[in-house]
Amino acid sequence: MASLNDIRSTFLDFFERNGHRRVDSSPLVPRNDPTLMFANSGMVQFKNLFTGLEHRDYSRATTAQKCVRAGGKHNDLDNVGYTARHHTFFEMLGNFSFGDYFKDQAIPYAWELLTKDFGLAKDRLLVTVYHTDDEAANIWKKVAGLSDDRIIRIPTDDNFWRMGPTGPCGPCTEIFYDHGDKIWGGPPGSAEEDGDRFIEIWNLVFMQFEQFEDGSMKPLPNPSIDTGMGLERIGALLQGKHDNYDTDLMRALIEASAHATSSDPDGPGKVHHRVIADHLRSTSFLIADGVMPSNEGRGYVLRRIMRRAMRHAHMLGAADPVMHKLVPALVRQMGAAYPELARGQAMIEETLKGEETRFRQTLDRGLRLLSDELGRLPEGADLPGETAFKLYDTYGFPLDLTQDALREQGRGVEVAGFDAAMAEQKAKARAAWSGSGEAKDAAIWFELADRHGATEFLGYDTDEAEGVIQALVIDGAEAATAGEGASVAIVVNQSPFYAESGGQVGDTGLIKTETGAARVTDTRKSGNLFIHQAEVTMGHLDRGQGATLSVDRDRRGAIRANHSATHLLNEALRAALGEHVAQKGSLNADDRLRFDFSHGKALSPEELAQVEAEVNAIIRQNTPVETRLMAPDDARELGAQALFGEKYGDEVRVVSMGRREGSAKGSNNDTYSIELCGGTHVSRTGDIGAFVLLGDSASSAGVRRIEALTGQAALAHLRDAERQLSEIAGLLKAQAGDVVGRVKALADDRKAMQNEIAQLKRQLAMGGGGAEAAPKEINGIKLIARRVDGVSGKELGALADQMRQGLDSGAVVVMAEDNGKATVAATVTPDLAERLGAVALVQAAVAALGGKGGGGRPDRAQGGAPSLAAAEAAIAAVERLIGESA
Ligand code: ALA
Repeated sequence: MASLNDIRSTFLDFFERNGHRRVDSSPLVPRNDPTLMFANSGMVQFKNLFTGLEHRDYSRATTAQKCVRAGGKHNDLDNVGYTARHHTFFEMLGNFSFGDYFKDQAIPYAWELLTKDFGLAKDRLLVTVYHTDDEAANIWKKVAGLSDDRIIRIPTDDNFWRMGPTGPCGPCTEIFYDHGDKIWGGPPGSAEEDGDRFIEIWNLVFMQFEQFEDGSMKPLPNPSIDTGMGLERIGALLQGKHDNYDTDLMRALIEASAHATSSDPDGPGKVHHRVIADHLRSTSFLIADGVMPSNEGRGYVLRRIMRRAMRHAHMLGAADPVMHKLVPALVRQMGAAYPELARGQAMIEETLKGEETRFRQTLDRGLRLLSDELGRLPEGADLPGETAFKLYDTYGFPLDLTQDALREQGRGVEVAGFDAAMAEQKAKARAAWSGSGEAKDAAIWFELADRHGATEFLGYDTDEAEGVIQALVIDGAEAATAGEGASVAIVVNQSPFYAESGGQVGDTGLIKTETGAARVTDTRKSGNLFIHQAEVTMGHLDRGQGATLSVDRDRRGAIRANHSATHLLNEALRAALGEHVAQKGSLNADDRLRFDFSHGKALSPEELAQVEAEVNAIIRQNTPVETRLMAPDDARELGAQALFGEKYGDEVRVVSMGRREGSAKGSNNDTYSIELCGGTHVSRTGDIGAFVLLGDSASSAGVRRIEALTGQAALAHLRDAERQLSEIAGLLKAQAGDVVGRVKALADDRKAMQNEIAQLKRQLAMGGGGAEAAPKEINGIKLIARRVDGVSGKELGALADQMRQGLDSGAVVVMAEDNGKATVAATVTPDLAERLGAVALVQAAVAALGGKGGGGRPDRAQGGAPSLAAAEAAIAAVERLIGESA
């Protein structure tokens, strides 16, 4: 019996043999579609090839595409487990022609594969065509020899396939398999078509048009082909089963579920196993593609599927979490075809286990509340919406989980009451908020968040994505359009732009639509709403338009490197300085990083060198950076560093990187840095490139601040330092290695020269010992009184002493101006000290200079004056005093 893995290979091999490029499935989160929650058919990743917007080096392709239909337009969640062919996750096999071949080749390919490679009996097959499509009908007749009654013309949209309200579309032909009259049902288009006898197995779409928002259609540049065949359906058929859940692959998962819960796979718990098997696939693949459980958007769809499966596991009587135990079985089945599943195994297991552990804490109590409530309700009555809301709000029961639980009893939920309770809660939140201070400024953002819900952040996995413009805000008011030159805040449903938070700056980049482009200069958050602040640089942007959002990649790369390096720095500081080091703030910009932390004193050069070396050592390890989601308590137990001032919800994002040197690889506690963090990070530590500390300074009392550079900026900094050094060496005419010795020698030389200059100045001031220094004799007393320039106030006293030494008996009065201040110093030989007095001499000179005072000892005194403008008058005053002395 061919396994599902064999059947997938047969399909892909067939088309590869026929000139098609085998292309990998795209991720479940579409990168190129603004409105689609998850990839839900094979053509999604090729959308722009059909419309001619994009070209690749192949014009034929074949894929096995991962699809999720849960939430949004195609929502199969409610039926999963109870029916034979509903799944939240399935694989779509497809072949595609992008303007290459058309109907006349697509139909023969399909017929050949089905009847030859898959060996289906020709007389079991029949087809539908769009009612006006004679061409397709004729090809079927010619190629397959089908009689007219087995080429059914369908006039409805069932045979006109559309990707969605907009996008490529065209008439299609569907191939059906007839299981024979043992099973009830009629051919497509008949009144009994919903029966199980005739099963659709393959849809071939003749892509010919592009549908636009206004309802108009334009022909595609080239007619193209898009086909889709559910692997689970064709697998069941080829394995002789009527139920997709009886295929080898699904059966292996059901048996794993039965084994893990010690229950019978086909007993009374059969539905539970089927739900678990299906949901195991969708949740594991979503987590592998980067979706994490949350209360918004895609994350909430994931959470709903997870919790639904967990309730079914609980129904099977499992005492402990079950889902994570089934992941190895899934990886065995599908890990070879989808390597991302094997790569993500640990992460998937951990996420499932965490969610199930937490949900179990409220599940029991919620179910008890539900059963009490049902006991009070009349037979068959619907559950009041308020109770469903309480289950949602207090016990974490998504509405569809409650509906699923009631389904077994044939009851529903009063959804209107649930919606009303939800609206009331929102209104209360709004009332509480509008009383707060920031209300006025932020009113518009609150209003928009209320209307559109949170912005979904896609930037952990991609730096380019599409979104729908939900609002344009110019000068604080909503606008329908933003024209060239406008400064506008743009709100979109989903965005790869990081909005400033946790120390990481907001992203910049470009938002483009069909009619214009805007440069995003900053991105910030108001609650969960992202605000892209932008300037329209070309054309105009309109509300409701689809837009391509591209983050400035290089800048984001540099920010990532700085943010990851900050985590390493935090840890390296703790290793070097001690456990008291706690983060007090940080900035992760594109050009540098800044980190504030508690520590009482400056870091020594040795400590700085140790920290820098350690961070670089972890960078060189080049180990993967891992992110996980867990309960705050679990994260703390793991030793995660919580960031200062952050508020944490039910779940935290945990970022780990690096390995502790010396610890055995794989040992439990060998992770170097574990932090709670919502920011964006490098994939591997090696992506940081290099780390250079710029130094440490005081930020506030007990808080130090370190600035550092990484990657290109670090190298540029080192290069600049190198350049300066070689310039200095050039000026010194020395080798770079001798520069320190040479500069030291220069400094010593300079000091010696300064001393010599001071000495020479003094000598010069004394008149160089020549005639000028000759004293004047007044009243029998020898006097040297003069202005000496170039001598500082401090040196003046010493100079006066030195000049006095040439006199056996006499007086010296010198004056100098320095730094806008005048100083007067006087000395007299001891024999005159009593008769004349140095203080009196200084005071006479100072008074003449317009100053006041002066003091010291009888033989030695000093005083200050505003200037030496009246130097001559001062000398005259001194001479007068001596002339008058007795
Ligand atoms: N895109 C087509 C489908 O999903 C083939 O049915």
